[in-house]
Amino acid sequence: MEESRRPHLVVLSGAGISAESGIQTFRASDGLWADHPIEAVATPEAWTRDPERVLRFYDARRDQVRRARPNAAHRALAALETPGFRVSIITQNIDDLHERAGSRDVLHLHGEILQARSSVDPRLRYPLRRGGIRLGDVCDKGSQLRPDVVWFGESVPRFGEACDIAATADLLLVVGTSLAVMPAASLLEYVPLDTPCVLVDPEAHALAPPGVVRLDRPAGEGVPALVRHWRREGRLWVPETLFE
Ligand code: APR
Repeated sequence: MEESRRPHLVVLSGAGISAESGIQTFRASDGLWADHPIEAVATPEAWTRDPERVLRFYDARRDQVRRARPNAAHRALAALETPGFRVSIITQNIDDLHERAGSRDVLHLHGEILQARSSVDPRLRYPLRRGGIRLGDVCDKGSQLRPDVVWFGESVPRFGEACDIAATADLLLVVGTSLAVMPAASLLEYVPLDTPCVLVDPEAHALAPPGVVRLDRPAGEGVPALVRHWRREGRLWVPETLFE
């Protein structure tokens, strides 16, 4: 089948899709930012002020990611990558659970925790197959390595690429994000006007912008149900009554 004829599902995922895998979200009352102020661990100023604290913060998150396993939502999206459907994942997450579930087209808007990069040349990246980053670990140019993640106040280098992908969506599936962070949340504005959009999140009723179909379900329940429906129907659409 030609690429252009397969229905194209574009997914925008956030921390909520990995919650059932045991990875903390950010803005819940017991979320990551409740224990670690953003300005202390996830900004360029924090890196300049106390790089050791920043490295420890990301080492702890990297350990959590390595202990985690993809859940039913990650696996369902990977299973949809059949000759019948094209699936593009645009994730705000820095974990590798989409890839480990088998998704082959994953764009990380906010970087990847299992990679380090030079603090002077972002083109110099180094996979972290085991362990973390220590003060004194340097890139080929002799500069300290840092987590390959986008900090608050930094630009999102791959956002333009994500917009181009969103512009070719036949359906946009938004899963597990509070839509609190820009420019990621504005991706909904880049899908074609008549493209349906569904939001899967236990708080979807409170979060979904106008015109977005709400599925107030955890990702591990809502996403597999949608994927079963799409595979059975052979097309992407959002039924009003998915759960009776
Ligand atoms: N299934 C689906 N959604 C869930 C689940 C679940 N099991 N559990 C929680 N959620 C939802 C929450 O209701 C919330 O809407 O996931 C969302 C998580 O929101 P945030 O914690 O704000 O995470 P996210 O939207 O991914 O944050 C975006 O902000 O902090 C930065 O860079 C960080 O990429 C992150 C960005």
